[in-house]
Amino acid sequence: MNTVPSPLPISDYFGQIPPQPQPWYCLGAVKSIQHQDQGILLACEGRDAEGAVLAECHPTLSIQVLTSQMLRIRLSPTGSWLPRRSWAVTKPDEDWETVPFQVREEAAELVLETADLKVSIQRDPVRIRVLDPNGQVLDQDAAQGMVWRAGQVGLRKQIEAGEHLYGMGERTGLLEKSGRSYTHWAVDEWKHHSMIDNLYQAIPWLLTVRPGRCCGYFVSTTHRSRFDLGETDPSQWQLEADTTELDYYLMVGATPADVVRQYGDLTGKMPLPPLWTLGYQQCRWSYNSEAKIRHLTTTFRQKGIPCDVVYFDIDYMRGFRVFTWDPARFPDPLDLIADLAAQGFRVVTIIDPGVKFDPEAGYAPFDQGLANDYFLRKADGSLFHGYVWPDKSVFPDFTRPEVRQWWGQLQSALTTQGVAGIWNDMNEPAISDRPFGDPGTLISPPLDAPQGSLEERTTHAEVHNLYGHLMSRASCEGLQVLRPSERSFVLTRSGYAGIQQWSAVWGGDNFSAWDHLEMSLAMLCNLGLSGVAFVGSDIGGFGGNATPELFARWMQVGVLYPLMRGHTAMGTKPHEPWVFGAEVERICREAIELRYQLLPYLYTLCQGAATTGDPILRPMLYEFPDDVATYHLVDQVMLGSHLLAAPVLRPGITKRVVYLPAGEWYDWWTNSQYSGPTHILADAPPDRLPLYVRAGGVIPLAPVMQYTGERAWDPLRLKIAPGNGDFSFYEDDGHSFAYQTGAWAKTPVRILEMVTGYVVEVGSRQGDWRPPQRQITVEVMGYEPQIFRDDGDPHTLRFDPPFSPNT
Ligand code: GLC
Repeated sequence: MNTVPSPLPISDYFGQIPPQPQPWYCLGAVKSIQHQDQGILLACEGRDAEGAVLAECHPTLSIQVLTSQMLRIRLSPTGSWLPRRSWAVTKPDEDWETVPFQVREEAAELVLETADLKVSIQRDPVRIRVLDPNGQVLDQDAAQGMVWRAGQVGLRKQIEAGEHLYGMGERTGLLEKSGRSYTHWAVDEWKHHSMIDNLYQAIPWLLTVRPGRCCGYFVSTTHRSRFDLGETDPSQWQLEADTTELDYYLMVGATPADVVRQYGDLTGKMPLPPLWTLGYQQCRWSYNSEAKIRHLTTTFRQKGIPCDVVYFDIDYMRGFRVFTWDPARFPDPLDLIADLAAQGFRVVTIIDPGVKFDPEAGYAPFDQGLANDYFLRKADGSLFHGYVWPDKSVFPDFTRPEVRQWWGQLQSALTTQGVAGIWNDMNEPAISDRPFGDPGTLISPPLDAPQGSLEERTTHAEVHNLYGHLMSRASCEGLQVLRPSERSFVLTRSGYAGIQQWSAVWGGDNFSAWDHLEMSLAMLCNLGLSGVAFVGSDIGGFGGNATPELFARWMQVGVLYPLMRGHTAMGTKPHEPWVFGAEVERICREAIELRYQLLPYLYTLCQGAATTGDPILRPMLYEFPDDVATYHLVDQVMLGSHLLAAPVLRPGITKRVVYLPAGEWYDWWTNSQYSGPTHILADAPPDRLPLYVRAGGVIPLAPVMQYTGERAWDPLRLKIAPGNGDFSFYEDDGHSFAYQTGAWAKTPVRILEMVTGYVVEVGSRQGDWRPPQRQITVEVMGYEPQIFRDDGDPHTLRFDPPFSPNT
């Protein structure tokens, strides 16, 4: 008989699998059962790979019922549990309302049943199977089930016939994720391509989809983990995590939305963003002087190209010192930002975590951080340093609440000048071992570096994936303190599961290439399926120079990104909407104008994401989970549930195939009607983004404006596709928290098909917020528009078919 070896110290293999992995141990028979208020606790045998029982090994399995559709399953190989961490799942088990469940002890299995699922736990060896109330298998352990070995735990699950796999956070490659392996370890992968593994975000979340049966698995560890989604064995997916306790949440539902919403309940939802963040945002590395910024914003206004945000990249700082201003390049930021505000622009400034090592200069962030011992130290107690833009730098330990608070406060150097939002970059963290400019190597803080408050002391290995996440939390919470009545905007490159609570996310350093344009949709859709709804990729591509055609097509795709930002790297050619000639300028203007028209629809989608966890940008399968033809589709997407977009993602194309799922569809531009399921060949000349409204779909539209605050949504247009459907559009003041105490408005709109024609009912407005006096134009596609003055009262409008002498 074998005994369990003690775990390797994690620093022995620095986040990599040990060179010769030891065999896994797994669970044997159930030895005893303890019934608890929220579930059951099973004392089990441990077995080695040959099936021999392990002596002195007391694995314990805990199954807790959090809702009728969600379980928390934990395996401790030693029988004792890891302490609860403040930084992982923010909703502790006790906060879930208790739901009824029964446990039956049968000869060969234990059966735990809730209203929506049945868990069968085989007694010997212990293996789990989850069924729906009709007895259909939703989830089942593969041969070994839950496993462990020195310093690692694992899980093996069967990939069921017809099951497709999604999620995994931020990934390159195609939409569907099976057949490859995915590491969850945040890195600055600035030269990424379709075959690269991990990027900036680490979100250990898997969504499995079959018609009528979907499951979500959130592996609650911040340590490095890796999912092999059928790469080694196509019949099963396998997880391994560099920790000593397996802790996963399993949630089931009939549709991806059922599951994604539960994941939102567990890890949090995006807050309602300020409206201005939905406008077009312009960035480049860098508009590095006041004169360049002024020229940029003036050109937008002169050319009549709408824009709300201008970014200041690293060159606004004095020698790349965070929370400073370069006095030569930006002598009077207060004055500059006030002038920009008068033109309708908001400013977002970049902040990196590396604080310049600056002992002589009286640089407060360094002095204060050092005096209070806020920076990361190595295991031997010496200060950890590396190299980033300001050269030698030190790095705050954001796992400690007092460090986050301090950092949040430092942002007053920016907010007092009028800065509206913070862009957190290089926060994986990205650190070089040599001064920048030398061909250095990217390094991580040592994995054994101590981190965290005394009560929850740990090492960098456990919290590496949280570095950018907690930096963003510090930033968001700090902005809230500095400007209590304004909604915050933070944009981050790195994050962990739940990052949506604190920050929007962009996809990092992409490239001006057609495949990167295409990949952005799969990446953003999977982020959306992983709980992160407010996302975008750099329009035009960050590295390299876009061609005029690529840039124009990318701007059209950017209309669909929840966060619409153009950006490009130092040394590239200009990437503003007007630099590619008159034709591309016109196409970009029209695309951005369309974006501004869509604001009321997008804002309602944001409010939906904030309350339900639904993504804003959705893969087709989210809306049509019973139609397997959508399972791999990503060159066309849904914006909310009513609008289908089929952008052009390749050069030289002016027609493209579009798949329209079952039901009627209406062409946005021509009103042509199509009956799905069908494939059509859509016209996509250079200035057209093919768009289709689902029958009964209601799209509220604003007039074109130069920035979100320029004018009220008057007239508000309701573009409605003939059919039966409804939609409630959401409004509020767009910037404060008054909506939390009732100052919001929801207007229900319904379209009904009559024997001839349609009836549109605009219901009475709910909520305490009153939009300014305005008109509403109702446009049932293909019918004469009708207008009424919006008084908040219900209006019923009839749309009769156009008179035709032959009928
Ligand atoms: C990183 C960011 C990029 C930024 C640059 C300079 O590469 O990903 O967006 O422009 O740093 O700050």
